[in-house]
Amino acid sequence: MEKVKLKISVLKKLIINIFKKFGLSQNHALISANAIINAELVGTYSHGLSRLKMYCDRIKSKLINPKPKIKIKKISQSITHIDANDSIGFVAADIAIKHAIKNARKTGIGLVAVKNSGHYGLSGYYAEQAIKKNLIAMIYTNGPPAVAPHGALKSLFGTNPICFASPTASKIPFILDTSISMINRGKIRVAAKNNQKIPEGLALDKFGKPTTDASKALQGVQLPIAGFRGSGLAWMVDILSGVLTGGNHAGRVKDPFDDFTGPQNIGHLFLTFKTNLFVNDFNQRIKDNIKTIKKLPKVKGIKEIMYPGQNKFNRYQKNLKKQIFISESIKKDLKALIK
Ligand SMILES: NC(=O)c1ccc[n+]([C@@H]2O[C@H](COP(=O)([O-])OP(=O)(O)OC[C@H]3O[C@@H](n4cnc5c(N)ncnc54)[C@H](O)[C@@H]3O)[C@@H](O)[C@H]2O)c1
Repeated sequence: MEKVKLKISVLKKLIINIFKKFGLSQNHALISANAIINAELVGTYSHGLSRLKMYCDRIKSKLINPKPKIKIKKISQSITHIDANDSIGFVAADIAIKHAIKNARKTGIGLVAVKNSGHYGLSGYYAEQAIKKNLIAMIYTNGPPAVAPHGALKSLFGTNPICFASPTASKIPFILDTSISMINRGKIRVAAKNNQKIPEGLALDKFGKPTTDASKALQGVQLPIAGFRGSGLAWMVDILSGVLTGGNHAGRVKDPFDDFTGPQNIGHLFLTFKTNLFVNDFNQRIKDNIKTIKKLPKVKGIKEIMYPGQNKFNRYQKNLKKQIFISESIKKDLKALIK
């Protein structure tokens, strides 16, 4: 079968045209296209082109508002509350991180809550904007039921990613951006679509039995990282991004692929702050911190102790020089969406 690859610029134009066809403004289409292409470039294919059709299906079903009237309520110099009016998540998150950065640069700390939003892709992508302004960022979003709370027989928490990002006084930032599940749901979806198995120990089927069958895992529950500790972290994210913001919580976020009964009303929380709030030699201290850890004796087979974000940064730089691979199923989606 012929392998299709597209230049980044060509693919970007194509995604922008698709989103514009579905009613997004040029600016919102560009913001969304950039986020999707970034997911491809960092190698998180589960959050890139594989979701384009889903976003368009939700716009067509009037569950994502292509022309949102986003309300931005300034609560104090540091704090902002955004009602995204069911916009595509990328746009809500882009506005939110920009406000969080502005607030933090003015006062030292910025806190922005978002409600009535949708799936925004990768938390780390927004954290990078804060890093560029030399700010620390903590970002949370909840998601549709995928993970059972510890002791429960039913999924309720999303894979609720936790993102913490810090400047490192070097060109590669520290970005810990991780789902609280053993595997992110998008990866299971991709495996199910391609008839691939998932590794053992990540999910249970609907009867509570361990499974490596991706389709059965989607119908069952995903396991949290580290048992009750991961379940606790998922709960924390649900409180921070759902309860606190005015967004849906306690399992009420709708699955973007399977549930077309209403908008998602996802909540996000963005916290940004300056690195020099308590010390004036942060750069020196962070360099010392990373250097000390990297110098530790290594486990057999490990060449370098990496900090979170290093792997994605390296993949991004490598992929930036290449064309983007388009799988058969993505090619089908793109063709149908642009028609
Ligand atoms: N919007 C949503 O609802 C949603 C839900 C879940 C996940 N996501 C996104 O999906 C993306 C992928 O999530 P994931 O859980 O699959 O992440 P992952 O497992 O790929 O990586 C988790 C973290 O571990 C770090 N890491 C990986 N290998 C490492 C190594 N060898 N040494 C040190 N650190 C290492 C990564 O840099 C990253 O910070 C994230 O960007 C997340 O925000 C979004």
